[in-house]
Order: sequence, then structure tokens, then C-alpha cells
Amino acid sequence: MRVSVAAFAATLLITGTAAAQPASAHPNPVPLRTLAAGTGVRIGTAVDMAALAADTTYRGTTAREFNSVTAENVMKWESVEPTRGTYDWGPADDLVRYARAHGQAVRGHTLVWHNQLPGWLTAGVADGSIDSAELRTILRNHITKEVKRYKGRIYQWDVVNEVFEEDGSLRESIWLRRLGPSYIEDAFRWAHAADPKAKLFLNDYNVEGVNAKSTAYYELAKRLRAAKIPVQGFGIQGHLAIQYGFPGQVAENLARFEKLGMQTAFTEVDVRMILPVDEAKLATQATYFRGLLDACVQARRCTSFTVWGFSDKYSWVPGVFGGEGAATLMDEGFVRKPAFTAVGEGLAEGR
Ligand code: G3I
Repeated sequence: MRVSVAAFAATLLITGTAAAQPASAHPNPVPLRTLAAGTGVRIGTAVDMAALAADTTYRGTTAREFNSVTAENVMKWESVEPTRGTYDWGPADDLVRYARAHGQAVRGHTLVWHNQLPGWLTAGVADGSIDSAELRTILRNHITKEVKRYKGRIYQWDVVNEVFEEDGSLRESIWLRRLGPSYIEDAFRWAHAADPKAKLFLNDYNVEGVNAKSTAYYELAKRLRAAKIPVQGFGIQGHLAIQYGFPGQVAENLARFEKLGMQTAFTEVDVRMILPVDEAKLATQATYFRGLLDACVQARRCTSFTVWGFSDKYSWVPGVFGGEGAATLMDEGFVRKPAFTAVGEGLAEGR
């Protein structure tokens, strides 16, 4: 049965929050991507390619609500080069094609990371069969090949992902250990050479507000830009949890990067909670999504706001944080949560 607009409004008046409505029973009159037009902010989602192929509701919602997409996994190194010298671009190509068909921009994720590296690479480094000089060449080839393949079709690339520890020291990854800190500037140079128009981003979690980690990024960005290294964006993942509180000084943090002449973006937003779900937690979650969105809309150069999946049916959270979940805009049945409404309202007010 279709819920009338009047009944929906009455529910709002009574509860003070938007009641969740099944997407199929109560189609949002205005898609998020339409509301985003005119804000200067693209509204995006991570895309799970298996779900996109198998689930028509997922596919339809991805097309309807978002004008930016990010590959949740299929552009990562272990996916694109599972065996040395043997590439599997199929799923990544599929996403780029899907995006083009639906008028969506694509964020590239991610070129240099310490996770989801192919087994042949980590094993070769561990057993010494890949030495540092060869590793640098391998990294250069990887970046060049992937960025060139999608040249002109990716507007923002997460070039280096999660390179700092919480205390602001550089992460002890194979990249730092084997190549030294210069791998970061090399990665940006190589990516820029392969696609000079793509905006190249640093990207990390726990950097929403001003803290030791985000300040390490700020200092790095300042130094790289002074040295004319082509780094143009700071990506803030935005994996929040309501039990830890909302980060402080988000607007100030965005502003300091923008003062360096950089773009900013929220790249992987979700807001988890300790299960079970209840109305109060959902209301808090909505304020967290809205808080990050407002910071983006109000910033001068925040160009995209991407959620890390839009339905709990496909969220990475429960598999990693035991007892936590419900982190996205819709529940497992694609029922919209108050957070979905809050994002829509934030976009509408930001126009
Ligand atoms: O592809 C294999 C499949 O063949 C196999 O059958 C299955 C069995 O577990 O595993 C599949 O791989 C999984 C992969 O997602 C694709 O579904 C991995 O086990 C799983 O670890 C992997 O998790 C991803 C995670 O990154 C890995 O670190 C999540 O989906 C993805 O959401 C998550 O995304 C990261 C961002 O890239 C960076 N920031 C943090 C964010 C959340 O962790």
C-alpha cells in the first residue's frame, strides 16, 4: 500500500523524525542527486559490483540517487592484477561503463595502500625476490597502467590511502619500509603524468576534525604543494560511530586544506552503532551524517560527499566490528532511515 504524503507528514509531526519508508512503497519524490545539483557537491556511493550485478533494487537505487560512484573493491591492486602481469579490468570497466550510462562521475579508489595488495607482491617482498628497486618500478607501472586505462573518465583519484598512524607518524607499510617516505610524492607524480586532468587525493579515516593525524596530512600537503608536487585534494573517509561522539572542528579542518588551494571531499561516509538499532540511535546517526554533509556543503571547495554503501544489506561494518552495524542510509530491506532524509534535507538546504 502506498503511504500518502499527508500521512507521511503527519508521522513527521508526531515523531519529530522521519519515519523509515520502504523505497518501493514510498519513492522519494526528489532523488538525492537532483537535490545535490546546484550545491557544488556530488553525492556518491561506493559500489559493490557483485550486488550491482545481482540485485535490481540495489542497481536501481545506485542509478537513481547518486551522481558519483566509487569502486568499493574492484579498482584495488589485488583485484586488477591478481597474478603478476595478468590483469583483470573487467569489473572496474563495468563500473565505469555503468557510470557513463547513468550520467555519474567516477572516483578512483585506490592506487597505493597497505591492504588488498596482491599475494605475489607481498610474498615477493617478504622472501626477498622483489628488491626495493624492483618494487619501485612495479609501483610506478601499476599506477601508470591503471590511471592511463581510465584517463579522462575518473575525476578524483585516491592516490595514497591511509599513510599515517593515529599519532601522525608515517604508517609502517611495505612502501615506507622499502621505498622510504618519497614513495608518496612519487605516486602523485606518476599519477599526474598518466592523467594530468584527474584531481589527485590523499585519503584517510579519523581525519574529520583537527587532530594529530589530520595535522600530519596538513603538514604533508603544505610541503608537497610548496614543492609543486601535483596533489590537489584531501579525502576524509568519514567512518564514524555514534558511541564515540561527533568529531570536533570539522569546518576548520576543511578550511585549512582549502586555504592551501586544495579541494576536499568526504569519501567513505558511514555511521555505525552498537546493535540493536533503536529510534534514538537512528536519530543520532542522522545528525552525524547531516553534520558531515553540512560541513561539506558549507565549505568552499568540498566537491563530493560519498557514502560507503547505502544499504546495510551490503555494508562492510558488521564483518569487521562485531556487534556493530546499521551504518548506512537504508536498512537491509532498503527502507530509508532518518539519515537518508537528513542527507536529502541537507542537500536541499544547501542549494
Ligand atoms: O573477493 C573475495 C571473494 O573472492 C571471497 O570469496 C570472499 C570471502 O571472504 O572475500 C572476498 O574479498 C573480500 C573483499 O572485501 C571483497 O568483497 C575481502 O575478504 C574483504 O576483506 C574485503 O573487505 C573490504 C575492505 O575494504 C578490505 O580492507 C570491504 O569490502 C571494503 O568496504 C573496505 O573498504 C575500505 C576502503 O577501501 C578504505 N577505507 C576503509 C574501508 C573500510 O574498511
